[in-house]
Amino acid sequence: MIIAIDGPAASGKGTLARRLAAHFNLPHLDTGLLYRATARALLDHGSRLDDVEAAVRAARGLALLDFDEQRLRGREMGEAASVVAALPEVRAALIDMQRAFSARPSGAVLDGRDIGTVIAPGADVKIFVTASPEARAQRRALELRGRGEKVDYAAILEDIVKRDKRDSSRADAPLKPASDAHVLDTTDLNVEAAFAAAFKLVQSARA
Ligand code: DC
Repeated sequence: MIIAIDGPAASGKGTLARRLAAHFNLPHLDTGLLYRATARALLDHGSRLDDVEAAVRAARGLALLDFDEQRLRGREMGEAASVVAALPEVRAALIDMQRAFSARPSGAVLDGRDIGTVIAPGADVKIFVTASPEARAQRRALELRGRGEKVDYAAILEDIVKRDKRDSSRADAPLKPASDAHVLDTTDLNVEAAFAAAFKLVQSARA
């Protein structure tokens, strides 16, 4: 079974994907980490985020990189990832590894922006997780506070709106629900309720 979870920044798609993967005993790939690690590698080498050649080299060399989530999760890296993710050459360099992951015989759960539309269009179930920008900013603020980072709610909201705009308006594989995706709006749902709703969607796809 392939489960495709897409949605905007801080929509809760990562938490949902992890929980579904654990529940159904499936491997999980957080594809945002690939773009974050590509951006991190560029910045570590002193390259610009719009240096296409360096970005493709970084994307192709990802297997050799350290996926230190602590270094990749921060606000700045989300923004940098969104910039490199708009380069079609970078997306092309990352496609095969994501498709290979989704085609594992065991099945898989992938989360990102283009899983249902580009990476695994034949997925058994597609969920597009969304929530209002304000609700997402609140959640991100709580998460960052929990990790001891300084939090500026207005700046986080601004980031989210900017990132939504960039991710949705790029020409290549923009953020949008696949035509056969179930849209799950979690604005008024807590983690448990969101999981219960997603679980139901997966169960009915399996039945
Ligand atoms: O899910 P995330 O916040 O970790 O993703 C960081 C950025 O990476 C996001 O703003 C856009 C990009 N991304 C993408 O373009 N396609 C994906 N499948 C996953 C992430």
